[in-house]
Amino acid sequence: TLEQLKGTQTGSVSLGLVTTAKYFIPHLIGPFAEDHPGVELSLKIGNRAEIIERVMSDEDDFYVFSHPPSDQGLELTPFLSNKLWPVVCPTHPLAQTDNVSLARFLQEPFLSRESGSGTRHAIEQFLAKRGMSFVPRMIIESNEAIRHAVMSNLGVSVVSEHTLNYGGREGLTVLDVDGFPIESKWYLVRRTVRPLSPAAQALADCLTRRQDGFI
Ligand code: PGA
Repeated sequence: TLEQLKGTQTGSVSLGLVTTAKYFIPHLIGPFAEDHPGVELSLKIGNRAEIIERVMSDEDDFYVFSHPPSDQGLELTPFLSNKLWPVVCPTHPLAQTDNVSLARFLQEPFLSRESGSGTRHAIEQFLAKRGMSFVPRMIIESNEAIRHAVMSNLGVSVVSEHTLNYGGREGLTVLDVDGFPIESKWYLVRRTVRPLSPAAQALADCLTRRQDGFI
């Protein structure tokens, strides 16, 4: 109806994103932005722990996580894959090596995101399943700064393919290490008790109707 149509044309929509989602979500919202010129959209960005806080205090219309909290009362809609890859500087000796073992990779100084990061959580889970762990050489609270630290050969790391695809993979070599990539998915997350406005629903539809592999 006209009323419903009007409802999608005004107001505001707020989306909480974990930091790695900031690379691709802006590429997916074009059709929504074009169809809803009167709707103000805000993207709140933080690490996994910070965005979980926002979920708990019901701050935003919905959220994007690759490791959502396992809370009842949340609706999770997977919409895209997320692979995490080991990276080194191209001049690093391992860059020329095929089939690097996980144990060998972990001998290198490891550049890690902060605790509270979903990326770090995924790496820790992956290693724990294999009875392993890393000792962080440096804690760096930014995917971009990790990329630059690896480029300047301060150590190795594991980053999402989205960090590489949109943040840039120049100056980095993706390694062939046992068991990688770490496979996960991106989820659109919403609190089922929070009613979605027509505009928020339109944005959710715009994000989830994209086919995996399209971006
Ligand atoms: P992060 O988020 O920015 O907290 O690492 C990525 C994720 O949750 O997978």
